[in-house]
Amino acid sequence: MTSTPKQSSSPTHPPDRGPDRGAVDGPSELTDGWPAACAGARLHVVTGKGGTGKTTVAGALALSLASNGRRVLLIEVEERQGIARLFDLPPLPYSETRIAVAPDGGEVRALAVDVEAALLEYFQLFYNLGVAGRALKRMGAVEFATTLAPGLRDVLLTGKAKETVTRSGADSRRIYDAVVMDAPPTGRIVTFLNVTVAMSDLAHRGPIRNQADGVAALLHSPSTAVHLVTQLEEMPVTETLEAIADLRSAGLPVGSVVVNAVTDPLLPANDIDAAAGGELNLAVLATAVAGAGLQVDDGAVGSLIRLAVEHAERVTKEYELEAQLAHAGVPMLNLPRLVDGVDLGGLYDLSGMLTDQGVGLDRESE
Ligand SMILES: Nc1ncnc2c1ncn2[C@@H]1O[C@H](COP(=O)(O)OP(=O)(O)OP(=O)(O)O)[C@@H](O)[C@H]1O
Ligand SMILES: [Mg+2]
Repeated sequence: MTSTPKQSSSPTHPPDRGPDRGAVDGPSELTDGWPAACAGARLHVVTGKGGTGKTTVAGALALSLASNGRRVLLIEVEERQGIARLFDLPPLPYSETRIAVAPDGGEVRALAVDVEAALLEYFQLFYNLGVAGRALKRMGAVEFATTLAPGLRDVLLTGKAKETVTRSGADSRRIYDAVVMDAPPTGRIVTFLNVTVAMSDLAHRGPIRNQADGVAALLHSPSTAVHLVTQLEEMPVTETLEAIADLRSAGLPVGSVVVNAVTDPLLPANDIDAAAGGELNLAVLATAVAGAGLQVDDGAVGSLIRLAVEHAERVTKEYELEAQLAHAGVPMLNLPRLVDGVDLGGLYDLSGMLTDQGVGLDRESE
């Protein structure tokens, strides 16, 4: 069940966010969208406020990282089959399944992590439970254990991610060039990734503790990059800035901010400023419209002006919010709002835009 790109009628370029983009003051230089730290990371954790496009961006990112013949695993941890929906596929099993090919070779596999299966796998690893494991499952022990110790759930999910990141084949080469995780939302991300804190309540020593320490070491290392997806609205931007601060104080590596669903400016920067500043003039516009040979009455020109002003205000607000985000000093990538929504073709378009902004893996991971 492998997806291939379809044609999409949506824009195939990111919105123009050039330096001469209007009157709003922002930092003079936006940070490089995809720095070496991101290109060198193996585990890419994608978080963001609910509904801002985490799953979409995780899918597009996986496709971009898979270009040049790489193999990338896309992991989902919230048991909601969002990846299957995104790639237009039936629900994914708890096994790594090839779901898409990257435009120039390379493949994306996907795994919907099932907490129960992961727990049994975990017990098996440490205690060689065999048949007893299946009995535990029948008894509902897994649900019992994860209800009793909510942190255990997170440890299992991040542990599974670590296992896929570090797994190597018979030739001792890594199986995956990169693993992308469609992670919990910003409100829960620091708790989710703070495995050491979760484990301090669960196990103080022994094999499970050692394994968790290994997970914590990976998550706090340069091999991990946490990406934050946001839209240019007040609430998601505020949450993103808070999450950046919280991740930093927990010593977790922030990779990039992916500004998603950006409005494509339909007017040049000067006209956006003029429209947002109320300078659009009915007489001037009516003359211009007539000059273009169109027969339009004043009412229609008035509606046009209202639309232009609304658009300009929206774009100006987005510039302001983008400038606030830029102050956090995190590399920024941006993706447009696709007018037809994100079908499979649109997903490949978004991935192409990430690639154009430099997203990819460095050569060392070859
Ligand atoms: N750039 C975009 N242009 C147009 N629509 C988009 C874009 N990005 C995401 N969407 C749409 O927004 C909706 C939410 O996206 P998505 O499911 O990726 O968000 P999410 O953050 O994973 O949500 P949840 O918190 O529910 O997991 C989907 O319908 C998706 O197709
Ligand atoms: Mg999602």
